[in-house]
Amino acid sequence: MYIEKVKNEMNLPETVKIFDTTLRDGEQTPGVAMTVDEKIRIAKKLDELGVNVIEAGFPVSSSGEVEAAGEILKMGLNAHICGLARPLKGDLDAAIDADVDYIHTFIGTSPLHREFKLKMSKEEILSKSVDAVEYIKDHGIIAEFSAEDSTRTELDYLKEIYNAVEDAGVDCINVPDTVGVMVPTSMNWLIRELKSELKVPISVHCHNDFGLAVANSLASVEAGADQVHATINGLGERAGNASLEEVVMALITQYDLKMNIKTEGLVNLSEFVSRITGVKMPPNKAIVGENAFAHEAGIHVHGVLAKAETYEPITPEMVGHTRRIVLGKHTGANAIKAKLKEYGIDLDKNQFDKVFNQVKALGDKGKCVTDADLRAIAESILGRA
Ligand code: KIV
Ligand code: ZN
Repeated sequence: MYIEKVKNEMNLPETVKIFDTTLRDGEQTPGVAMTVDEKIRIAKKLDELGVNVIEAGFPVSSSGEVEAAGEILKMGLNAHICGLARPLKGDLDAAIDADVDYIHTFIGTSPLHREFKLKMSKEEILSKSVDAVEYIKDHGIIAEFSAEDSTRTELDYLKEIYNAVEDAGVDCINVPDTVGVMVPTSMNWLIRELKSELKVPISVHCHNDFGLAVANSLASVEAGADQVHATINGLGERAGNASLEEVVMALITQYDLKMNIKTEGLVNLSEFVSRITGVKMPPNKAIVGENAFAHEAGIHVHGVLAKAETYEPITPEMVGHTRRIVLGKHTGANAIKAKLKEYGIDLDKNQFDKVFNQVKALGDKGKCVTDADLRAIAESILGRA
C-alpha cells in the first residue's frame, strides 16, 4: 500500500532473475555436506520451482563436485548450471570439464583480501580477472564475475575492475556483500552507482551477518539490480545468505514483479532441504516456518476466521503452507468453537464454558493445548471419556 508512494523513486527492473546458490554457498554452511545424489535431487526441485541459475558447486574442490555438476547438467533442466571458479586455469578447467554452461568466477578485491589473503596488487587482480573472463568466453560459456568483498573495496577500483571485465565480455557482474556489512541505504546507493557506470546486468549476493541479507537484496533491486543470489532457508557461510523464499515472496507481493517462480513449491522445498542438510528451521522463520501461518491469540483467531487477510499478508496456499489455529493461554472462544465444530462436537453453553476454562487453565500452566487435548477435554465433559 504505502510502497506505491515511493515506487516512482525506485529504479525497479521489469523482472529479477534468481541465481540459487544452495548447492554451493549453502553447502558452505558449517556442518553441511551433500552427496552427489542429494545435490541432484535438490537441483531437480529447484528447477521445478523455476530458478534461473543453479550454482551446483565448486568443481575444483573435489571429484564429487565435478560429478554432481556433470550429472545435474545431463538432466537437461531449464536452469543454467553454474560452477564456481577462481580466476585460475585449474579452477576454470575443472568447471569447463564438468560441462557447466555458466561459470561464476571471483577474486577478492578489498584491501584486506589484496594484502592479507592474496598478497597481490590491484593490477594483478584486475588482469587475472580479465584473463579469466576471456578464457570462459573463448569456451562459449556464460561468464559471471564477482569482486569478492565488493562492499569493502574502494569505489574507484571496484568500478575499474567491473569496467574491465565488462570490456572483456562478461555477461553479468555480481556484487557480493561478503561479510554482510551493508545496510539497505548504502547497498541501494552502491548499486545505483554501478548501474550508472555499467551496461551489463548487475547481480547481488548478500550475506546475513547482521540479519540484513534479504533487506539488502531488496534495496539492490530497488536500485535496479537484475539478479539476486539466494539460498533455500537462507543457508550459507556463517549467518547465511539471503533466503530465497523471503526474497521471492517480497519481490512478487511487495513490488509486484512478474517472476517465473512456482511459489506454491516453497514450503516443500524448504522442508526437503532441511531434511537433507539437517539444518532445522526455527518455527518463526518467515514464509516457511511452522508458525508462519499459525494463530493463537483470541483476537487474531477471531479476525482470521472472519477474513484471513486481517492477520495474514499472503495466503498460506501461495507458498504451499497450511493455516493452523493453535490453542493456549491466549485462545479465545471463537477458536475453540471452530475446532469443536470441525470435530462435530456439540456443546451447550455450560459445557462449553467448562471446556474454555480448562483450556485457559492449561495455558496458564505454560502448556500448549493440542487438538487431541481439546477433544479429550470435551469428551470428558460430555461424559464420554
Ligand atoms: O560471499 C562471497 O563473496 C562469495 C563469493 C564466492 C562470491 O560467496
Ligand atoms: Zn557468499
